[in-house]
Amino acid sequence: MERVPEPELMEEKDQVISYDEADFSEGEFNLINQISHYLLRKKFSLGEKDLIVDLGCGPGNISEKLAIKWPNTEVVGIDGSKEMILRAEYNRENSTNRKKLKNLRYICSDIKDIKSNNLFLKKRISLLVSNSLIHHISNLEVFFNTIRGLSNNITVNFHKDLKRPLDEKSALELKEQCSTKYNEILTNDYYASLRASYSFKELKDFILENDLSSLDVFEDGDKYLIVYGNV
Ligand SMILES: C[S@@+](CC[C@H](N)C(=O)[O-])C[C@H]1O[C@@H](n2cnc3c(N)ncnc32)[C@H](O)[C@@H]1O
Repeated sequence: MERVPEPELMEEKDQVISYDEADFSEGEFNLINQISHYLLRKKFSLGEKDLIVDLGCGPGNISEKLAIKWPNTEVVGIDGSKEMILRAEYNRENSTNRKKLKNLRYICSDIKDIKSNNLFLKKRISLLVSNSLIHHISNLEVFFNTIRGLSNNITVNFHKDLKRPLDEKSALELKEQCSTKYNEILTNDYYASLRASYSFKELKDFILENDLSSLDVFEDGDKYLIVYGNV
């Protein structure tokens, strides 16, 4: 199936509310466990001197879980949508875990502008994470240039995203499954995301062709891809 891009930022209020109100916690805990196991395997531990950045953080679901998992490490969630950042801040302030989220802050910035905004002058990024971001980005060069620009020689990258279905029929089946759990706005967004996602081959080829061989791509089941490693 050909890739059909979707708008990068999620700025519509009803779109943001639908996303925020959905329960994706199972997949989110799964991602935190995957990151944690990966760091353990690399014998990489995170402490006070480190900085974790969650790109395209949305309403902060992953950022909050990262902040709780690594309580001594500063976590910064970044999203280009003001509406999403407002939600993320509201969620943090109203969370039952509020006291455990003192190490978490949010910044509203398009990922393309992060470097020029000089947001991380005090600390270097140790862990650079994203979930469901890559498919929003108009082309892979923009995504990889961003993570290359933000990474240093110790930065561990871990980026999980949807994998584009092989054909329209499979995409429609996944859309149908989604509609049994989530509302119409979210179901339509999910379908648009599936069509906008990249394939394993597209990501792998980009890495090979652009001197990014310390990164790799992993197919996580039949629905997800993970780009991980150093840049
Ligand atoms: C599908 S949501 C995922 C949110 C969150 N990572 C999660 O897993 O719950 C994708 C988010 O990426 C943000 N985004 C897309 N393109 C972006 C860009 N160029 N710069 C910053 N944020 C972006 C959108 O605004 C949206 O909030």
